[in-house]
Amino acid sequence: MTRKTLTTLLAATALAGFAFSASAAQLTIGFSQIGSESGWRAAETSVSKSEAKKRNINLKIADAQQKQENQIKAIRSFVAQKVDAIFLAPVVSTGWDAVLKEAKEAKIPVVLLDRDIDPSGKDLYLTAVTSDSVHEGEVAGDWLARTVGSKACNIVELQGTVGASVAANRKKGFDTAVAKHANLKVVRSQTGDFTRAKGKEVMESFIKAEGGGKNICAVYAHNDDMMVGAIQAMKEAGLKPGKDILTVSIDAVPDIFKAIAAGEANATVELTPDMAGPAFDAIIAYKEKGTVPKKWIQTESKLYTAADNPQKIYDSKKGLGY
Ligand code: AHR
Repeated sequence: MTRKTLTTLLAATALAGFAFSASAAQLTIGFSQIGSESGWRAAETSVSKSEAKKRNINLKIADAQQKQENQIKAIRSFVAQKVDAIFLAPVVSTGWDAVLKEAKEAKIPVVLLDRDIDPSGKDLYLTAVTSDSVHEGEVAGDWLARTVGSKACNIVELQGTVGASVAANRKKGFDTAVAKHANLKVVRSQTGDFTRAKGKEVMESFIKAEGGGKNICAVYAHNDDMMVGAIQAMKEAGLKPGKDILTVSIDAVPDIFKAIAAGEANATVELTPDMAGPAFDAIIAYKEKGTVPKKWIQTESKLYTAADNPQKIYDSKKGLGY
């Protein structure tokens, strides 16, 4: 090949948008995803695919259908395939030591996405891309305290999946915020497993147990999908969600903005579905330059209410994989 042909070829490659260097080999990354329990989860999967495509990464996604045993099998299969890295969204926080040791022995770096594992496993992964989920709970609790002022307020709580780091942390953060105000009290708390159907079912039982909802002042849900289910339960019980009963939840999915715009929900704390983008960049830098990332790559937790033009946010978010 002549020098002129080579120059033309390189220029054409750059024009076609291939930003990676001519020598970089394509990375193959295995992603053990939890499942599709929520709109947020569906968006995370879809964003991961598009972020992989942007970086010419061959991403293999294994859907665990909410089961840790399926995640363990997927990780073992990725190790056997000798992938370049493994991404793990751990459904629960315990029980990972053995399989992550196998990945470490095979010299395959592991990155945690959106949920954490117990601190005893800290040496078994390279970095974690997550929000501060304790802080998310605090943001939700502080908003509620500001909104109700000195009025007595009985709160019901819809928790996420039992054993998930984010469920434990979102509870902890909210409890800390609420404990500062003697007029706020969590009167019932139960898991809704991060799903709409379970959120609705549990809210129906809370309404029944609390005088048809008359004794409830606010609902705190660990994700928006459970809140969307709870809103349905309140409406079916003849209550006005967002007015008779205040709502605050986490994720910022399009459907909650639709509910806020309609006056049927009050607040949400955003969790970005783009956990994979920063994780891909960390792995690329690690593989190509040996750059060891920070142990925790933290994403933002921003509060949204009716004051933030929810209809506009709904329009901009819908269709983004949610
Ligand atoms: O781990 C993140 C949580 O998992 C999201 O908040 C929830 O919607 C999802 O199921």
